[in-house]
Amino acid sequence: MLQLKKKYCKFCGKDAIVYIGYANLGLCREHFIRFYENRIRKMLEKHRISGSLMVCVSGGKDSMSLLTAIKRISEDTDLDVYAFHINLGIPNYSDECESIVKGYAKQLLVPTIVSNLKKDIGFSLPEIISVSRKPPCAACGIVRRWIINKTAYELGFDFVATGHNIDDASTFFLKALMTQDYYSILRGQWEFLEPKKNYRLVGRIRPQFYLSERENMLYAQLNNIPIVDKPCPYSLRATIHKYKKAWSTLLEINPVSQINLTKTLMKLRKMMTIEEPMLYQCKNCGYPTENPNGICSFCRLISRVNKTLHNNS
Ligand code: FES
Ligand code: ZN
Ligand code: ZN
Repeated sequence: MLQLKKKYCKFCGKDAIVYIGYANLGLCREHFIRFYENRIRKMLEKHRISGSLMVCVSGGKDSMSLLTAIKRISEDTDLDVYAFHINLGIPNYSDECESIVKGYAKQLLVPTIVSNLKKDIGFSLPEIISVSRKPPCAACGIVRRWIINKTAYELGFDFVATGHNIDDASTFFLKALMTQDYYSILRGQWEFLEPKKNYRLVGRIRPQFYLSERENMLYAQLNNIPIVDKPCPYSLRATIHKYKKAWSTLLEINPVSQINLTKTLMKLRKMMTIEEPMLYQCKNCGYPTENPNGICSFCRLISRVNKTLHNNS
């Protein structure tokens, strides 16, 4: 990031502190912050996000930067911002995340909603993972998606925002291409999903979809945003990291390659007429599922956890 190929800020001529390769831009501190917040503002405007917005915040650099930028943007728009945090119950990790998120949201004057897995659904993430057959991050994703949607729906939010970035999206696609995972190429990753109120599905936006991890980290550093500086202990085992490493070489060859790969697949998707998956209402919890048998993946997972842990106790 700090390999200064442009020494001066494109907008004011001061010394540049960063070179944005994909845009061939040198930027000073002030103009980087403006550039970053403008990218987020444009994404919110493009999808006409207004009214109450629940920002999901884990405590990491992406979501903490997202909350900061959205809070600033809300000051001259009609956005009403709330932070939402899930305490996953991971020892030596989750309580620290919760306290950093709560403390910082308070400083920003953003109301915070916290869900505690153990209290709210009866099991912590480590308990769920101990009996799930899925990789930890997959099980965690199922639980988090369900809780985010349920909380937002019950509290009457129009949209939720999450902190996914271009490294996440492009790595997901790279892995899907390398493993012939057509379903993920056609369905996975998106910058925006429309709400479907009759299915109790809240609208979802990823305002940092085309921003990189490094930009999020720089924004956090320049604004003195506190962040949880250790990774989730389960994420270290995920194979996706191996694909992520490949990007550093590809970005050396072409700094726009992550954005181009992602945009290419998005365009191809639009050019194809893909039928929307049928949605059903889960017979157990009432939230949406693509499973025609009518039980959502969250309920299937929790019923398995329930049976295994309670039969063993
Ligand atoms: Fe979900 Fe780590 S945060 S597995
Ligand atoms: Zn400048
Ligand atoms: Zn369900």
